[in-house]
Amino acid sequence: MPEAETDRRKQPREINLLRSVPKIVRDVGARVPNKEENRRLALQFGFEYFDGPREMGYGGYRYDGRWIPVAERIVAHFDLKPGDRVLDIGCAKGFLLRDLVEVLPGLEVWGLDVSAYAIETCHPDAQGRLLRASCDALPFADGSFAAALAINSIHNLDRAGCLTALEEIERVAPGRGFVQVDAYRSERELEVFLDWMLTAKTYDSPAGWLELFAEAGYTGDYYWTILEVEE
Ligand SMILES: C[S@@+](CC[C@H](N)C(=O)[O-])C[C@H]1O[C@@H](n2cnc3c(N)ncnc32)[C@H](O)[C@@H]1O
Repeated sequence: MPEAETDRRKQPREINLLRSVPKIVRDVGARVPNKEENRRLALQFGFEYFDGPREMGYGGYRYDGRWIPVAERIVAHFDLKPGDRVLDIGCAKGFLLRDLVEVLPGLEVWGLDVSAYAIETCHPDAQGRLLRASCDALPFADGSFAAALAINSIHNLDRAGCLTALEEIERVAPGRGFVQVDAYRSERELEVFLDWMLTAKTYDSPAGWLELFAEAGYTGDYYWTILEVEE
């Protein structure tokens, strides 16, 4: 293993690889009525979640190129080369995978998601690269990826599931993971998050997540999805 990779394995770090993604304007109040029904439908990760009304999820999950700068950052961060294998865990319709190949032709990309709907309606360029599976049981060999990404996906499992998912990421890409999860830094952020959130089963402070990472022996990199509020 090259020296740089050995160093990165020892120093997990907080890094915002998604910093170019435009901040989403959220009408939190709109999700409060009918929350239980919206949540029930969202948790099916089907049409309603991806392409139904905003109260039930994305409100229309369409390719718009916003992942290109993220893909560029991922390629640079992991020093990826043509022929390297990259896994996107909770890849939805495969937009990031598509953009990774545009940024670095020759990359071997694989995606995994529990949603049959997302896989069926994936970007044409991602067809044949996506598997239906859960992030706590990755159907891949130990150390088989140069990078494993899990952006806003593992927190859809309960704490025990998250622990297993982190162990799985470490197994398939030791020290070469990037995990982004729902977090909050104050009671107010938690309150707003709970009004908005539909599918997450595990959410914590960054310190709480770091404890879980340590418990799982996860040594990759990470960042937080936080609904910022005026305190
Ligand atoms: C908020 S979306 C994130 C999609 C994409 N990673 C992104 O950042 O735009 C969460 C994704 O996780 C998927 N998901 C939910 N539970 C999962 C599980 N147990 N294993 C794998 N994927 C899961 C959902 O179907 C959905 O595509």
